[in-house]
Amino acid sequence: MENDVTYLGKIIRVDSNTVEAEVSDNIPSAAPIINGRLYKIGQIGTFIKIPIGNITIYGLVSAVSNTPSKNDESGIKQIIGSRFLTIQLVGEKIGDSEFEKGIGTYPTINDEVHLVTEEDLFDIYGQKNEEKIEIGKHSSSENLSVYIDIHKLILRHCAILGSTGSGKSNTTVSILKAILNDYAGSRAILVDPHGEYASAFPEAKVFKINDASNSLYIPFWLMNFDELAFFLLGAKPTDDQKIEYRNFRELITTYKKENFKLKSGDVNPNFITADSPIPFNVRKVWHDMNWWLNATFSKPGKDDQTKATAKETSAGDYDKLIPATFEPYTMGSTEPYKSKHQEYYAYEKKILARLKDSRYDFLFNPGDYKDEKSPKDLHDLLNDWIGSDKKLAILDLSGVPFEVLDITIGLITRFVYDSMFWGRNEPYTGKSRPLLLAFEEAHTYLNKDENNSYSKSSVEKIFKEGRKFGIGALIISQRPSEISETILAQIGTLIALRLTNSGDQSIVKSSAPDNLNSLINLLPSLRIGEAVIVGESIKIPSRVRMKLNSPRPTSDDPKLVESWSKTHSVDKENYKTVVTKIREQKF
Ligand SMILES: Nc1ncnc2c1ncn2[C@@H]1O[C@H](COP(=O)(O)OP(=O)(O)O)[C@@H](O)[C@H]1O
Ligand SMILES: [Mg+2]
Repeated sequence: MENDVTYLGKIIRVDSNTVEAEVSDNIPSAAPIINGRLYKIGQIGTFIKIPIGNITIYGLVSAVSNTPSKNDESGIKQIIGSRFLTIQLVGEKIGDSEFEKGIGTYPTINDEVHLVTEEDLFDIYGQKNEEKIEIGKHSSSENLSVYIDIHKLILRHCAILGSTGSGKSNTTVSILKAILNDYAGSRAILVDPHGEYASAFPEAKVFKINDASNSLYIPFWLMNFDELAFFLLGAKPTDDQKIEYRNFRELITTYKKENFKLKSGDVNPNFITADSPIPFNVRKVWHDMNWWLNATFSKPGKDDQTKATAKETSAGDYDKLIPATFEPYTMGSTEPYKSKHQEYYAYEKKILARLKDSRYDFLFNPGDYKDEKSPKDLHDLLNDWIGSDKKLAILDLSGVPFEVLDITIGLITRFVYDSMFWGRNEPYTGKSRPLLLAFEEAHTYLNKDENNSYSKSSVEKIFKEGRKFGIGALIISQRPSEISETILAQIGTLIALRLTNSGDQSIVKSSAPDNLNSLINLLPSLRIGEAVIVGESIKIPSRVRMKLNSPRPTSDDPKLVESWSKTHSVDKENYKTVVTKIREQKF
């Protein structure tokens, strides 16, 4: 064996998960060529193997030194001409069976250490089969495809982490493309806050806010009562002591209970609460509030002031936000009398302001999902997002105002989760047809320090429970240190690209599913598009090169050089359209 071209040296120290090897003085070459391929001895992050009878233990080189890492009592003893490799043990292969992570048998002093050749790695990664997708090529070899187990990748959740420009979006495209190409029945939703992915997936269904053909709507009536009160009125659950908050809850409950006959199927009104996702007309709610505030009556007493005693001159039009009009009240003690119903004084103006703000139209004026009379109901929304033959739905949130991004992603995630939870035993969804939800720019809305985040709590639920109902999640982020710890702790597969910030590196190190510091330490020195992949879905932790996809996601960076290189015309009319847009808040 010592004459083998792969022979490196012998074990000189064994710890619980690292061993140290001394590279022999007698190896034929420091860079042997085996089957036409050049190997370099002592490269950090490369594999070695330790054959012991019919067991082969595999390890990763994590440090190289010309002194042994632990010196004997006589002090520093340099051994000239020798090199010492610190090796992190990764897994073992027994006889002809498959490579397994984890160590059952430890090497001992003087066991031989050998180079791992390309053939060995081919053997470990195996052939492509229906359970695997190709994620890229091994960094050490253009020919060596790295496969990952699709079931574990999706249902045990995964993360793509790396600094800006390291290749995260491209990696996301690679994975989604492999899934869409290899699996006819696959399905995924990609939450795309910067609207960069549509160009990479001509075959996908793209929903975008204010888009003429495929507009993205998140009906406001998906909100539970507290959410609705907050986003419509700025009211908080602690306002529950206020009469108007309680009245508002009753009003919403009444509206929802009236609308129990629905296009997705009738609902027993006894089960309907203010929190149920039942459509109602929010413009009518405003109109009602406005009516009671401004009405005049033939009676002075509050209890006598009813619809029947009102002095209405025109009914207005709630859909157009036109209020009803009334005979003017008189100052003295003759009719008509001024309204004594002033409870909603503060709420009425807030609702009106919200409903007039066109930036919120995707929520409060959601097209075919506007109210109980509208042509579409929630099953249409699910069919659009996860029931179509397109397999991938991209939800382009680039037009969502920042202050509602969190609730928007929260509503999307909760609704999709609920559909999988309650549909878990249906033949067409739930466990029978799993779903991947991918979240780009995850640090912006899954922040660990944010206590009242709607998106964080619903995404955390997927990470904790989703697997049981067939939902897997993928998060993509350049700031892993800002992401919820609950989420990081549940990541089954970690795809880590170049990462330069040391705070982010240490988070990745501590949340990496396999405790493999030697590979994680490589993060700052990875090339663009190169990733360290560790975790449940990969046979052996690996350094992988992703291929560059085409068509590519679009970066929304302005073309600075091109623009600054030419002169621009001066026109006094400039900026008029911009100012109008600022005033109307409308594109
Ligand atoms: N696998 C790759 N091979 C070569 N170049 C790549 C690769 N991945 C990304 N790049 C280059 O890096 C740029 C940034 O990639 P991108 O995926 O947008 O990074 P991120 O999403 O992390 O900011 C791309 O425009 C492309 O030019
Ligand atoms: Mg990106």
